[in-house]
Amino acid sequence: NYPTQVSILEVGPRDGLQNEAQTIPLQAKTDFIHALAKAGLTRIEAGSFVSPKWVPQMADSAEVFKGISRLPGVTYSALTPNDKGMQAALESGVDEVAIFAAASEAFSMRNINCSIAESLKRFETVMQMANDNGMKVRGYLSCVMGCPYEGEILPDKVAEVTKTLLDMGCYEVSLGDTIGVGTPGHTHRLFDTLLEDIDVSKLAAHFHDTYGQALANLVVALQYGVNTIDSAAGGLGGCPYAAGASGNVATEDVVYMLNGMGIETGVNLNAVLAASNAMFGHLERQATSRTYTAMLAK
Ligand code: HMG
Ligand code: MG
Repeated sequence: NYPTQVSILEVGPRDGLQNEAQTIPLQAKTDFIHALAKAGLTRIEAGSFVSPKWVPQMADSAEVFKGISRLPGVTYSALTPNDKGMQAALESGVDEVAIFAAASEAFSMRNINCSIAESLKRFETVMQMANDNGMKVRGYLSCVMGCPYEGEILPDKVAEVTKTLLDMGCYEVSLGDTIGVGTPGHTHRLFDTLLEDIDVSKLAAHFHDTYGQALANLVVALQYGVNTIDSAAGGLGGCPYAAGASGNVATEDVVYMLNGMGIETGVNLNAVLAASNAMFGHLERQATSRTYTAMLAK
């Protein structure tokens, strides 16, 4: 019993680019965002308001938001780890923000330099500022299937932090397999636990494809009724604080699979391919997406 429709949240401009070592020109970023919106992607994570010392590639997020022409019906969002980031997001006219926590203490320390509990305290402030400005807040939870520093993460821990994020007012929590170690077995165990007392409509799948398991894991998530999927055009991506993490599952691969399953996304595959192709022209590496490679070869 699969959902008939899936909402894709395109994270290419943020999760996809944040780990690229070479500086990508501002124009290439805004062109990429325009091309993704034209492809029918209605939720685009366009940047993040984090410390430029920690993630230099995202240092121009304010310029990115100023530089884009917005298509009606498209939500342009950004990550905001604290009040400083939230203030910058408000000044940049961001439509929606996301706070990001982890299910692993070690990862929380490496990624945002504080414990899980401390991060949740900071997010209260972000949430308050968002509420005052009538802005929706998404939650991310990292390391839901494993941590690069702690190894196995128990589904109970994932459930606990997910519930806290929802109780704080996040409209949805995106479950991050940050380093792409999960398998369909992990995915079953995770959703069996989460759905004991969380409504599936509040959950999104954010899977990285390090071990080539992301699509298989997504099929399992779809079977549980998950209907929001995060992906990055071309399979861009990787987290700077997750050693060995490769890209997000590719938007092309997700759309190709969902098309074949008769699940509607509203996304035009050829147009996503064109968006990826233009961006990879600025990078010194090839796209990892199998669908991208296959379609380009035709
Ligand atoms: P900190 O050093 O503990 O913060 O960093 P601080 O409050 O002590 O401030 C230190 C300096 O940073 C100060 O500047 C602040 O002004 C500045 P200085 O006085 O040294 O010049 N600062 C900021 N500057 C700009 N924007 C801000 C900001 N806040 C402080 N918002 C902090 C704490 C959270 C800021 C830092 O650890 C950080 O930026 N981390 C980045 C984490 C990140 O972006 N990771 C990647 C995204 S998460 C991810 O990819 C996972 C996800 O995809 C899901 C998944 O796959 O699992 C979402
Ligand atoms: Mg990610």
